[in-house]
Amino acid sequence: MIKLLILGPTGNTCRLISKLAIEDEEIEVVAACDISHIDEELGFVVGVNDSNKIRITDVNNLQDVINETRPDVVVDFTVAKATEKNCIKCVENGVRCVIGTTALSEDFLTKMEELVKENSAPAVISSNMATGVNILFKMASLLTNYLGDWDIEVLEAHHHRKLDSPSGTALTIAKNISNSLGVKLEDVAKYGRDKGPNKRQVGAKNEIGILSVRAGDIVGDHTILYAGSGERIELKHQAHSRNCFASGAITAVKFIAIAKENKIYSTSEVLGL
Ligand SMILES: NC(=O)c1ccc[n+]([C@@H]2O[C@H](COP(=O)([O-])OP(=O)(O)OC[C@H]3O[C@@H](n4cnc5c(N)ncnc54)[C@H](O)[C@@H]3O)[C@@H](O)[C@H]2O)c1
Repeated sequence: MIKLLILGPTGNTCRLISKLAIEDEEIEVVAACDISHIDEELGFVVGVNDSNKIRITDVNNLQDVINETRPDVVVDFTVAKATEKNCIKCVENGVRCVIGTTALSEDFLTKMEELVKENSAPAVISSNMATGVNILFKMASLLTNYLGDWDIEVLEAHHHRKLDSPSGTALTIAKNISNSLGVKLEDVAKYGRDKGPNKRQVGAKNEIGILSVRAGDIVGDHTILYAGSGERIELKHQAHSRNCFASGAITAVKFIAIAKENKIYSTSEVLGL
């Protein structure tokens, strides 16, 4: 049995992860911490029968929770500021992390690289745990090898409550494309084409446009547009529900529980792509 700690179990994505984890025979949810629904029964909040009757604990008591429940793995889909504090604490206590939260800082990622080695606690950190999106990443790298001299733009659309822009997934796609082109993303990224006196609105050769839409309850759409003279190709992924992220997170929990190398894994590695 994998002893699992859940951070942010009442959020839109982690609610589904909590449900799948409670129902999974290989996983025992030992604790769940959040800033809301404190003391409420996790199973009741996420709409599933939890025979362990775990109650949601205030995340400020995380160290006590770790000491009392000794989890093997933690799964975190919260907000970057909280992840950066809480997951450092988890890894320092030897807990293996599965982190889906986006907009994490470079400083945090560098620190995690060190801590997973020091504490022999490997982690999965991934901006998108859906299988289809990870296959899209691979296809974009392949297509870029053929179409490097075409205009390439990354378009994403999400619900209007999303905190970060562009999405972590759009940034991962753009990074993969720039790697395939052999250039640095910061040298070629063009974020939006705003109106304004000093903003360039026309496109330019050798740039990757990264454009965001925020509307309604769109779960997550990503399109990579390759446009040449008189023709174009679009690679598109659309998430119909958050189930694809939740089931990907559970796969990552099972993978990291037995991972041998003390390093940070991507979802591509989890899926063996
Ligand atoms: N990697 C992926 O596959 C994937 C998929 C979907 C969403 N995401 C990312 O996951 C994150 C959460 O997305 P969401 O749509 O579920 O958000 P949400 O706003 O619905 O949920 C956020 C959760 O975090 C909790 N929270 C806030 N502050 C906290 C703190 N200090 N400590 C503990 N918990 C805290 C909230 O109470 C809530 O339960 C975002 O960064 C999003 O981009 C990643």
